[in-house]
Amino acid sequence: MGFGTRSIHEGEEPDLASTGDVVVPIHLSSTFARRTADKPSMGLEYSRTGNPTRSALERRLASLENADHALAFSSGMAAETTILLSLLKKGDHVVAGEDLYGGTRRLFEATMKRFGVAITYVDTRTNSAVGRALRNRTRLIWLESPTNPLMRICDIGAISRLGKRHGALTVVDNTFSSPYIQNPLDLGASLSVHSTTKYIGGHSDVVGGAVMTSDDGLFESMRFNQNALGAVPSPFDCFLILRGSKTLHLRMERHSDNAKAVAEFLATHRGVSRVHYPGLKSHPQYSLARRQMRLPGGMLSMELKGGGAAAKRFLSRLRVFTLAESLGGVESLADHPSSMTHASVPKAERERVGITEGLVRLSVGVEDAGDLIADLKSALS
Ligand SMILES: Cc1ncc(COP(=O)(O)O)c(C=O)c1O
Repeated sequence: MGFGTRSIHEGEEPDLASTGDVVVPIHLSSTFARRTADKPSMGLEYSRTGNPTRSALERRLASLENADHALAFSSGMAAETTILLSLLKKGDHVVAGEDLYGGTRRLFEATMKRFGVAITYVDTRTNSAVGRALRNRTRLIWLESPTNPLMRICDIGAISRLGKRHGALTVVDNTFSSPYIQNPLDLGASLSVHSTTKYIGGHSDVVGGAVMTSDDGLFESMRFNQNALGAVPSPFDCFLILRGSKTLHLRMERHSDNAKAVAEFLATHRGVSRVHYPGLKSHPQYSLARRQMRLPGGMLSMELKGGGAAAKRFLSRLRVFTLAESLGGVESLADHPSSMTHASVPKAERERVGITEGLVRLSVGVEDAGDLIADLKSALS
């Protein structure tokens, strides 16, 4: 079945043997009765281990990412932590993209390094840079494509093949694209991870995360740790993410149309020196983006000519865009990466990578494009 049909029906088939609910109920029970001590009567024991609303969400998420399995978590960071603690041990090595979401980098630097895991950051636009960074103990290659916030694209298929030859698993943080736009597992990656807080939830009213895979062994190990570490979402949060996911296909079309219109406007504005958007022909990896993404998506960033002062002035003048962290909701948001989402990345490293004080990131929502462009025009004037 097509994506739109699966996003509405998968995991939420009405159960005509009981109530016939069209929408999966929010199962609040923290524990489940059994008839005998030896085994759960209905397959359910305790809500950290398994919950019917969460199972419905996990079935939906697996289907959207063309995966055999999905696990839902209480946040994107909880999903990432569970992957890392399930797959790594002391002495292992990770090759990661150099302009990842700041929180992912903080997890690597502040937490994983304390457990004796080594990390090498590389510019993942170049496959050979990834190849050169691989070591005997490289267990994971951690990618974002497009990257946050510079919208750089990496060749997921080629890097996954490189990793496989070396015995390393490729993980793709697919938050920026959503499963409607890009399916990393189809391209060869072993794991796709999402902050479902963003496009999948889509309404800026819930925090969540997910991991999808078709590898039974990886799934079993992460399912064990979903329960053992306990970073699970509440049934109400699962319901909200299920509800949001039903319109993912519609929203992503509009996000992409609006972002393209906004990027084309910004690219011609004299106050803007550079626009990073994979849907512009001027993007250095435009053809790779077209090959591996169905649409260019709703995220873009731009460099303002006047640097940090111009960026802060611009952000304070916006009226339709809201100055706030996060992305992927129906409403347009603006972010100043160097002082907000990427403030935890050391300044020297930010500057080396290209996250300057003049860089502004936009999450283009699904409002009327004309109103968004008028807002940007007036804030830039
Ligand atoms: C690309 C990306 N990955 C992961 C995360 C972390 O997700 P969460 O905030 O749901 O923990 C974020 C959050 O902004 C993100 O932008």
